[in-house]
Amino acid sequence: MEMSKQLSEQQVELIKSSVPVLAEHGLTITKRFYADLFEAHPELLNLFNHANQKQDKQQQALANTLYAAAANIENLEELLPVVKQIAHKHRSLQVKPEHYPIVGEHLLEAIKKVLGSSATNELLDAWANAYDIIADVFISVEAELYKDTSESSWEGFRRFIVQRKEQETKEVVSLYLVPEDGKSLPTFEPGQYVTVKGYSQSDHYTHLRQYSLSDKPNQSYYRLSIKREETKDVQGTVSWYMHGLAEGAVVELTAPAGEFTPENGEGDLVLMSAGIGITPLTSIAKSALATQPNRAVTFVHFTANRNSYALRSEMEELASAYQSLRYEVYDRDSDSSEMTVDHLINENEQQFYICGPISFVQQMEKKLQELGVSQKQVHFEVFTPLIPV
Ligand SMILES: Cc1cc2nc3c(=O)[nH]c(=O)nc-3n(C[C@H](O)[C@H](O)[C@H](O)COP(=O)(O)OP(=O)(O)OC[C@H]3O[C@@H](n4cnc5c(N)ncnc54)[C@H](O)[C@@H]3O)c2cc1C
Ligand code: HEM
Repeated sequence: MEMSKQLSEQQVELIKSSVPVLAEHGLTITKRFYADLFEAHPELLNLFNHANQKQDKQQQALANTLYAAAANIENLEELLPVVKQIAHKHRSLQVKPEHYPIVGEHLLEAIKKVLGSSATNELLDAWANAYDIIADVFISVEAELYKDTSESSWEGFRRFIVQRKEQETKEVVSLYLVPEDGKSLPTFEPGQYVTVKGYSQSDHYTHLRQYSLSDKPNQSYYRLSIKREETKDVQGTVSWYMHGLAEGAVVELTAPAGEFTPENGEGDLVLMSAGIGITPLTSIAKSALATQPNRAVTFVHFTANRNSYALRSEMEELASAYQSLRYEVYDRDSDSSEMTVDHLINENEQQFYICGPISFVQQMEKKLQELGVSQKQVHFEVFTPLIPV
């Protein structure tokens, strides 16, 4: 590491003592930062999620991660698991090393503006160094991911054709995508996602979103199962765009990414999903049973309507084909107060994979913890930015 990027003891102290102050101004700083960033680099509006911006979600995610890293600046390796997860997302979005100094510059400027006269030169220098050190960790973890591409994988965005479109429910559609170049598809790890390039009728930017691969790997297509999102009459940009694609249309994807991926033979699998969170878990269940038919897999799904939910018939078929699969479906509204997980716990080595809204994941994690399940056994994926606190 270059000398200029070393922090002196004094700088470490300065950073640590300023973290609570910055955290207090957290959102003000990051709002300022994004406003300035997009003014200086409007092209980055093609990369960032506008809906998250409007709802302050991404602001908090980046800032909180940065403060957590700064507070741990002497032992950053402790943060590596979190960094890896973010790095997967960054790689999937094609965040590149040259983006980091741009973000660093505007972040420093924002800190300076918001703290005013209390932002001394010493403090700003210390933060500039700390940012470089943290950015280097991200850049090097991401470099590994960019390098790690199999023969049939690809760099950047690849064009796919919608070969088949299947309405799963009123709100969910499955798209079967094949590469336009006719070449083979790389396999992926069940539980992984791709980034999709969408467009909006109301602006000229590209809008990037992640979608889990909902079928098992090693087929001629990738399947995405997409729920049309809508809140208070605001239609979700990319989910509606994807629903509007006809068979034969072209859509661009980056290569599969993500770490929500069980390993073969690591014990009993317990899969817990709510709503559209069923997508990565369906891939995981189908693939686990195809490769290890005797592996004990428990799948618990919580849905708003047990008679009509995405991937229902497929999951039911799987349950009747494999005795080793125990499949339970609960109605979220009528059964949610009863959401008990006690009966899922056994003496075997178990790994839990949870996917759904943050509130659901937290509720399940808490229950499992109360039942003595260790943190190492619990893995989760949420479809919104993670906000470390
Ligand atoms: C790893 C991962 C895997 C995923 N897998 C899947 C999957 O398999 N299937 C799936 O359907 N989704 C999945 N998602 C979610 C997906 O990426 C999108 O977040 C989702 O489709 C919504 O995107 P959108 O562009 O339609 O909505 P956005 O435009 O991003 O809006 C999001 C929500 O906010 C609301 N909104 C937007 N602007 C405003 C505003 N100004 N005020 C108030 N509300 C507003 C919208 O109505 C919408 O409900 C996944 C996400 C991740 C991170
Ligand atoms: C050290 C610096 C950085 C930190 C600490 C950081 C942190 C984060 C975190 C915590 C997330 C949310 C992950 C999740 O959804 O689970 C995220 C997502 C994202 N990051 Fe970074 N990031 C950094 C640098 C960058 C850079 C340089 C860029 C590109 C200019 C970038 C672009 C994005 C984008 C586009 C997302 C997706 C979410 C969205 O668009 O709202 N990040 N980052």
